[in-house]
Amino acid sequence: MTQMTVNGQPVRIDMDGETPLLWGLRDAMNLTGTKYGCGVGDCGACVVLIDGEALRSCLVTLDEAEGREIVTIEGLSPTRGHPVQQALVAEQAIQCGFCTPGIVMAAAALLQRNPDPTDAQIREAIPNLCRCGVHPRLLRAVERAARVVQRRESIAAVPAPDIDPAEAALEVPALRVEGARVEGAAETGEQP
Ligand code: FES
Ligand code: FES
Repeated sequence: MTQMTVNGQPVRIDMDGETPLLWGLRDAMNLTGTKYGCGVGDCGACVVLIDGEALRSCLVTLDEAEGREIVTIEGLSPTRGHPVQQALVAEQAIQCGFCTPGIVMAAAALLQRNPDPTDAQIREAIPNLCRCGVHPRLLRAVERAARVVQRRESIAAVPAPDIDPAEAALEVPALRVEGARVEGAAETGEQP
C-alpha cells in the first residue's frame, strides 16, 4: 500500500510497491493524461511533478513515491490556464498531442525554477521526444510562456474545457485492474 498526494488529494494505492508510478497513475487512478511512450526513461511522455521536480514516472516506483506530492497534467491547471498550456495553444505547438503532457510538465517545472530561461536551458530542461517534430514551435511557445510568467505579455485564455477532468476520468471504462485499488481518490476515478 502506497500513500501519496496526487493533484492535491491524499490517496492510497494497493499495488505492488515495485510498480512504476506511471501505472499507478494510469491504471489505478485512471489519470491517463500521463502517457506511456518508451517505458525506459527515454521519451519524456510520462513526466509528472514529484515534489515540484519534473521526473519520468516510468522510472519511479510506487515505493519511491511514498509520501510525496505528485502533480499530473490533470492537476496542473483544471482550467488549462497555465501559461505553458496557453502558449502551446497560441503557438500551435501541438500535433497529435501524445508528447504534450510530458512537455507541459517539464516546461512548467522549468519556469517555476527559472522564469527567464535561455534557449539552451529550455532545450536542456525539455529533451522530450516528439515524433511529430514540434520542437521549433515548442521552443517559441516556452519562450512566450516565460514572458507571460514575467508579466511581459498576456495570452487570450484558451477555451474552457467542456468537461471536468475528474469526470472525464470516471467516464473511461478502464478501471477494472485486478489487484489495483485506490482509496480516497473518488474525484479522480476511484476503483469500485
Ligand atoms: S514512458 Fe517514461 S520516459 Fe518514455
Ligand atoms: S505532437 Fe505528436 S508526438 Fe509530439
